[in-house]
Amino acid sequence: MTQITTIDKIGEFVGQMVTLRGWLYNKRSSGKVRFLLIRDGTGIIQSVVVKNEVTPESFSATDILTLESSLEVRGKVRADARAPGGHELQVSDLRIIQVAEEYPISPKEHGPSFLLDHRHLWLRSSRQHAILRIRSHLIQEAQSYLNREGFILFDAPILTPTSCEGTSTLFETDYFYDEKAYLSQSGQLYAEAGAMAFGKVYTLGPTFRAEKSKTRRHLTEFWMLEPEVAFAELKDILSLAEELITHLVHSVLTHRREELKVLDRDLTKLQSVVQPFPRITYEEALDILRQKGISHQWGDDFGAAEDTVISEQFDRPVMITHYPLQTKAFYMKSDPLRPELALCVDVLAPEGYGELIGGSQREDDYDKLLERLAQHKLPRESFEWYLDLRRYGSVPHSGFGLGIERTIGWICGIKHLREAIPFPRLLQRIYP
Ligand code: 4AD
Ligand code: MG
Repeated sequence: MTQITTIDKIGEFVGQMVTLRGWLYNKRSSGKVRFLLIRDGTGIIQSVVVKNEVTPESFSATDILTLESSLEVRGKVRADARAPGGHELQVSDLRIIQVAEEYPISPKEHGPSFLLDHRHLWLRSSRQHAILRIRSHLIQEAQSYLNREGFILFDAPILTPTSCEGTSTLFETDYFYDEKAYLSQSGQLYAEAGAMAFGKVYTLGPTFRAEKSKTRRHLTEFWMLEPEVAFAELKDILSLAEELITHLVHSVLTHRREELKVLDRDLTKLQSVVQPFPRITYEEALDILRQKGISHQWGDDFGAAEDTVISEQFDRPVMITHYPLQTKAFYMKSDPLRPELALCVDVLAPEGYGELIGGSQREDDYDKLLERLAQHKLPRESFEWYLDLRRYGSVPHSGFGLGIERTIGWICGIKHLREAIPFPRLLQRIYP
């Protein structure tokens, strides 16, 4: 029996016999030698099969192996600086598990629609593999960061009785006994209950927006990380947002550098992400737009075009605060000094990658919140529980939502968010 191992650990076995299990990524032959590139999910290794060193069965197996066939190989690990990954396997045994049918994805260019139809297979390609390894790292690292800072993971429901971010983007479904339920747009309202119970919490999970926009920055199902902090004011969560983003970028730079290389990401652009981030108000952002010859009406929210122009002025994420209250969600607290403004923040990624974070201080006054619900024509009955949070020990509190795919898209330097999640849900796509 030889040790079964994985390619990422192969360096521990130089000079020893190991067994690897995986799939054929590529092959070439030269006379009596076959070079098999085998991937096992943790990496890729070149395996060399020499005619006289294996059984005739093993050698002829190399000829019927097609791309993505599954196999098991046993052999001796050799350090070889020229080999991809620095190691090579000198094969002594090869066993086919399944010979794959002709693989639909080839190195030639495929259109996005073909690739999305084959997303379940496309995931195996090196680029997609790199992005999704970064995704996994980023989500874990964000959680470890918040855990270290004393936050509690607090799961919010997906099926909800109300909207959080406006009624125009709700996915509705039938619930029992003639009731309606909606897929959650944000865990925030529940996170607020969590913050009143635990002080510092975060939710992490899928959120849904029935947005009829076909942009490269919108998914109908996306993941959000939402910290919520009791006794925190706007300035406190600006600091948290800045620290979290900086931490995530540098963690990916440190631990997922190989993947960033596969993606050809310009590392200098990520290295310049250091604190402090520029902080400007909505009105200062209007000035920037004006200087660039773009006239924008006070009171209107910024769209993708405005976000891009503003973010391009900075080499790191920019935090824009104090938007007009009228453009923002019902729960945001108005600025006591200028009640027409919200105590809120949007964090825009550099290089035009769009909004990473939306957050705010929350309206903690019972009467004002009631007024805001009425202004937004939201049914009071459905929000009684939320109003309770203002009846029983209300305190100033704040939080934000970090879009996981937006953050991945920016860090990886990919233009379309559909590659930042294993199975993207888009306006015109729910398959596979
Ligand atoms: O700005 P949003 O809508 O904020 C909220 O939902 C708040 N309730 C969050 C909170 O305060 N706890 O969304 C937050 C972030 C955006 O900045 C963006 O990164 C991402 O979620 N996002 C989307 N990502 C992909 N596709 C979409 N359709 C998105 N909509 C928002
Ligand atoms: Mg927003």
